[in-house]
Amino acid sequence: MSMQKITITGAAGNIAYSLIFRILSTSVFKKDTKIQLNLLDIQEMLPVLQGLKYEIEDCAFESLDSISITDNPETAFADNDFIFLIGAKPRTKGMQRSDLLLENAQIFNEHGKIINECCKKTTKIIVVGNPANTNAFIIQNSTPNLPDNNITSLMKLDQNRAKSILAGQLNQSVESIKQLVVWGNHSTTQYPNIFHALVSNNLVVHDNNINNDWIVNEFIPRIQNRGAEIIEHRGKSSAASAASAIYDHFNNIVNGSEDWESLGILSTGQYEISSDIFFSFPIKFNKDEYVVIENLDIDNLSSSYIKKSEEELISERDIVKGILKTN
Ligand code: NAD
Ligand code: LMR
Repeated sequence: MSMQKITITGAAGNIAYSLIFRILSTSVFKKDTKIQLNLLDIQEMLPVLQGLKYEIEDCAFESLDSISITDNPETAFADNDFIFLIGAKPRTKGMQRSDLLLENAQIFNEHGKIINECCKKTTKIIVVGNPANTNAFIIQNSTPNLPDNNITSLMKLDQNRAKSILAGQLNQSVESIKQLVVWGNHSTTQYPNIFHALVSNNLVVHDNNINNDWIVNEFIPRIQNRGAEIIEHRGKSSAASAASAIYDHFNNIVNGSEDWESLGILSTGQYEISSDIFFSFPIKFNKDEYVVIENLDIDNLSSSYIKKSEEELISERDIVKGILKTN
């Protein structure tokens, strides 16, 4: 039997309430692997964590070894295999995700410093709290003891949205769509790039249901604004779909993927994107390692969208650098 130690921050929140049960009910690990779960939230939420712990126990999950609940990040982050950084404020109606930057940056800066002191070199960190890409940058900045490629930010929700909307337009199944990747920031500048996407192994842009007008005026804005659309209807931000995407991202990190994937990683200048930002590139997994798919043709339209998202990430990074300096 082997053991995997997983910590989830913001464990008393909405996303965690879906994620935890998915991770334990359909484990991404081999059958003989048990999970030690550490749930972290702030002190006021400890009673909620206690109730959550009872509910998890009541499921009698075979994958579960033990659960601990805490408001102490030092206890939660010690010696982990995976850390899901979800604990952060969500936006409400009318806000942009970047409006959360100042408030949430403090949480990520504090957590990053502690993680740096007590994690293993192999610890993998998945950043979810918004603005996710720039919070991942904060984590990378404060964890010099960790390899940069252990830190990724969630873009899979955007990719899943894009796949589902495109499949609907083509009247095809989601599994027939491949190579559909969302580039850039998890924000309204993100760029779902349809030009390399395949449907049943044929280029999607050759399909009669697809034209430039639909791509530019419907497809791209629909995905860019999907998070806000959900807040408008639900009154709060996506939770179950976010949790499902985190699960997919986690599964890809553990088991790899046959398809191209979207995840925020530290740019090292691929496609002439500025280094020092967490940017979503097309990614290919090779078992549990990933690489950026290089040398794809980027047309002028794609290039202008990608540039805009890069500019936004650079400006978020510069705001954060100011905050980190004063700490
Ligand atoms: P939520 O408000 O329901 O839960 C957040 C939890 O974090 C709360 O329980 C809160 O007490 C906790 N928290 C706050 N400060 C903390 C700290 N210092 N340490 C530990 N826990 C702390 O929010 P949610 O709906 O679960 O969303 C969480 C975050 O995920 C938000 O920032 C949201 O915008 C973001 N999100 C990102 C994506 C994505 O695709 N990247 C998708 C959906 C939501
Ligand atoms: C989403 O995309 O649903 C999340 O990032 C939540 C939000 O603020 O839109």
